[in-house]
Amino acid sequence: MTTETKTPEAKPAYSPGLAGVIAGETEICWVDPNAGLGYRGYDIHEMAEKANFEEVAYLLLKGELPTVQQLEEFSQALAAERALPKEVLEMMRLLPKKTHPMDMLRTGYSMLAPFDPDLNDHSHDANIRKAIRLIAKTTTLIADGQRIQHGENPLPERPELKMAGNLFYKLNGEVPQDWKIRMMDTIFILYADHEFNASTFAARVTAATLADMYAAVTSACGTLKGPLHGGANEESMKMLDDIKTPDRAESWMMDALAKKAKIMGFGHRVYKAGDSRVPIMREIARDLGKRVGKEDWVPICEKLEATMEREKKLCANVDLYAAPVFTMLKFPPELNTPIFAASRVAGWCAHVVEQQDHNRLIRPRSLYTGPAARPYKTPSRSNGA
Ligand code: ACO
Repeated sequence: MTTETKTPEAKPAYSPGLAGVIAGETEICWVDPNAGLGYRGYDIHEMAEKANFEEVAYLLLKGELPTVQQLEEFSQALAAERALPKEVLEMMRLLPKKTHPMDMLRTGYSMLAPFDPDLNDHSHDANIRKAIRLIAKTTTLIADGQRIQHGENPLPERPELKMAGNLFYKLNGEVPQDWKIRMMDTIFILYADHEFNASTFAARVTAATLADMYAAVTSACGTLKGPLHGGANEESMKMLDDIKTPDRAESWMMDALAKKAKIMGFGHRVYKAGDSRVPIMREIARDLGKRVGKEDWVPICEKLEATMEREKKLCANVDLYAAPVFTMLKFPPELNTPIFAASRVAGWCAHVVEQQDHNRLIRPRSLYTGPAARPYKTPSRSNGA
């Protein structure tokens, strides 16, 4: 920059936080601001009821639903890729015991990179192979990491289990009842993709430099951790634990709003008429509450929803109901966001494949608001040197 007069740049359109900005095209997912969500044209509500996670991951990655045989082969390929290199397990043992599971997951993704023989091959087929490995290894990083942190050894793989059942098994050694597996599949389906959400966008920005898929997923995982994004489902549970009973929910919310606090599990950048995933997650919470004898969480959330709607016209997002669902499924709260990642990794990878298949560097401009151009002066030196 010089002080010479230059033709000023035309002032470009500016949207703080990129709100409403179309930053790219995608064929993977459509978020309808009026409470709708579709994966490659299929309604999330139908998929949540009828599909399993493997089917959705195949659809996101490959663009079409699998045949029965393709689904079987894809599920087997995922199961075969679950085990971690022993060096990665060793690394997890070296991390401080208080390491948050999201930090462990992010570190795990990064360390897995050099073990992948396709790391620097960004062709479509190599990217699909890497995607399968990354999706498969995510639940292993979470479950093995959790056991290691609690002084237990990782459990041997059970390749006959699909991802939903395998997550429970790898955490506590028990194969859950079918209804639990079905529930987990639905949760994974709800979280699998959401177009240009912050973590997916971070993955695409990284992939657009032609960095590898592991670098992109590491960026995405770091981004998901924040409480304004995936981290909200851990924070929501702290709020619900603090509220405790439905009769305290309204006054708790009024106090928090008076203090201008951000209420976790509420608000959304795109949805203004309700989050498409909330009705399904709410029903899971209701069903689970009956099964485990914990029927207070849904009325607490509903009271919060009614108060927020009345006071701020803001809707609940999926993380409000995900929090008690994970608690009732007996996951510790610090695993809430990693479980979100276990599903969203399918979306991240699908977006990296799409980005690198039609790549253009993502590099926006900023609006400069610093001092006007001014002459540089050599600092005066007090010692005369
Ligand atoms: N609690 C209190 N007030 C809120 C909340 C909230 N959760 N969300 C938005 N608002 C307020 C804002 O302060 C703002 O008020 P103002 O106009 O008086 O300043 C107004 O509502 C509009 O908010 P936006 O600026 O349009 O929200 P934005 O799109 O920037 O942010 C976000 C969206 C980050 C999700 C926000 O709603 C939020 O922080 N929510 C809580 C965290 C959360 O639940 N995140 C999970 C998101 S979903 C997901 O990742 C799966």
